[in-house]
Amino acid sequence: MKVLVVGANGGTGRHILEMLGKSNDHQAVAMIREITQSAELEKLGISETVLADLENEVDHAVEGCDAILFAAGSGSKTGPEKTVSVDQEGAIKLVKAAEKHGVDRFVMLSTVGADDPDYGPDSMKHYFKAKKKADDALRESSLTYTIVKPGRLSYDTGTGKIRAAVKLDDYSGEIPREDVAKVMIESLTLESTYGKAFEFLSGDTDIVEALKSL
Ligand SMILES: NC(=O)c1ccc[n+]([C@@H]2O[C@H](COP(=O)([O-])OP(=O)(O)OC[C@H]3O[C@@H](n4cnc5c(N)ncnc54)[C@H](OP(=O)(O)O)[C@@H]3O)[C@@H](O)[C@H]2O)c1
Repeated sequence: MKVLVVGANGGTGRHILEMLGKSNDHQAVAMIREITQSAELEKLGISETVLADLENEVDHAVEGCDAILFAAGSGSKTGPEKTVSVDQEGAIKLVKAAEKHGVDRFVMLSTVGADDPDYGPDSMKHYFKAKKKADDALRESSLTYTIVKPGRLSYDTGTGKIRAAVKLDDYSGEIPREDVAKVMIESLTLESTYGKAFEFLSGDTDIVEALKSL
């Protein structure tokens, strides 16, 4: 598959590129905001980049792709306006562009807490609300979607093992971004994840096995 990686220069995005750069099954197109980022990404084995900003027009970025891995986010250092314009409206715009251009496969990096924004701490509510609106737009689209919802992310080396469920009953622990990247890539072709949203954290089960049992 030709896979557009959105948020390619980010923590999770770089792991995705590194894995896709070694893949025989997929070819990555890295969506970046600054041309200066492409030299770094080439070191990960990626030669194709496209310049696009989620706050502007994105149609040209999705054209010719088979799938989208959405791993972008405005981050915690910007205010609620950016959370709405990037995490929410940017993601929704991309879903619409995918529908328009026949890019059927869409894997969204969401978060635990997005189902029930009012449950979280006040400081996080705007973020959970934005993620929920993006997830809902994808669910309501005509696309073959997967919504992956990790708990707290870490920069640790991946273990390749997770616990996953539609709803976890214990949110303790973290999950390395490297494992989130693997979950997203494996989800591309594992039909057990199609049309589903699921939560996950580090655990004892191999990623592919855990995804097959969803
Ligand atoms: N932190 C957590 O504990 C946690 C938990 C669950 C889920 N998540 C979700 O996981 C996702 C990835 O997190 P991360 O920490 O790996 O990401 P990250 O390192 O913060 O990277 C985010 C990426 O999004 C890109 N981006 C920001 N605004 C953009 C725009 N307007 N147009 C295009 N790209 C834009 C950034 O581009 P530049 O490189 O150009 O700045 C960056 O490459 C986020 O959606 C976050 O909500 C996080």
